[in-house]
Amino acid sequence: MSAGDAPPVITIDGPSGTGKGTIARLLTAWLDWHLLDSGALYRLAGLAAQDRGLDLDDAHAVAALARGLDIAFVEGAQDTRVLLAGRDVTDTIRSEACGALASQVAAHPAVRDALLARQRDFRRPPGLVADGRDMGTVVFPDATLKIFLTASAEERARRRYNQLIEKGMSVNLARLSRDITARDKRDAERAVAPLKPAPDAILLDTTSTDIHVVEEQVRQLVRERGLARTR
Ligand code: DC
Repeated sequence: MSAGDAPPVITIDGPSGTGKGTIARLLTAWLDWHLLDSGALYRLAGLAAQDRGLDLDDAHAVAALARGLDIAFVEGAQDTRVLLAGRDVTDTIRSEACGALASQVAAHPAVRDALLARQRDFRRPPGLVADGRDMGTVVFPDATLKIFLTASAEERARRRYNQLIEKGMSVNLARLSRDITARDKRDAERAVAPLKPAPDAILLDTTSTDIHVVEEQVRQLVRERGLARTR
């Protein structure tokens, strides 16, 4: 497929707790496009590496594992179930512990490289909404619309806390806040594909904006780029 006829991509990047995942899901449903939750791939790589007892600092071994991961995203009536070698790990990979594993393995260039083609394979007609940290900078630099969401660290910790409590997980707000800060720091300071907006990304601060207002702002941008002619 040449660049000219490649399906359009909208990238939604930013740190956790900015509403990125929610906006990506809402946008996908509205446009009836495909969704790439790239964080899930890093979470799966981290989980699989831990399950195998690999040293997470062994970039070569973790990358080899990541390259061959048997992953499936199964669309259900309620949600999308994530399978790792046939095992349903949807809830397991959402834990903070798994987020930390993901951030650790994601710092290795070889692991990022191993997951690159797999991420680009999600680009299928009629279009793709890609959620992550480096969607607009590295994975889909030719995306038609690039959004980068931000929010204050306190607000992000509070949202994440509520999300985890809703899922029935036990969590301590102070520790969560520390863990999120450490994860963001590692994601932002790594040498390869660090968390940062693409030069042509549109920044939206969601700290004190209701998620449905953010959704409408994003829809407007989508309309302006001619990506939602019938909506
Ligand atoms: O979006 P998330 O919280 O599920 O991501 C988990 C970790 O995976 C995140 O801390 C860093 C890593 N990640 C990444 O490095 N690049 C991406 N495109 C997505 C996630």
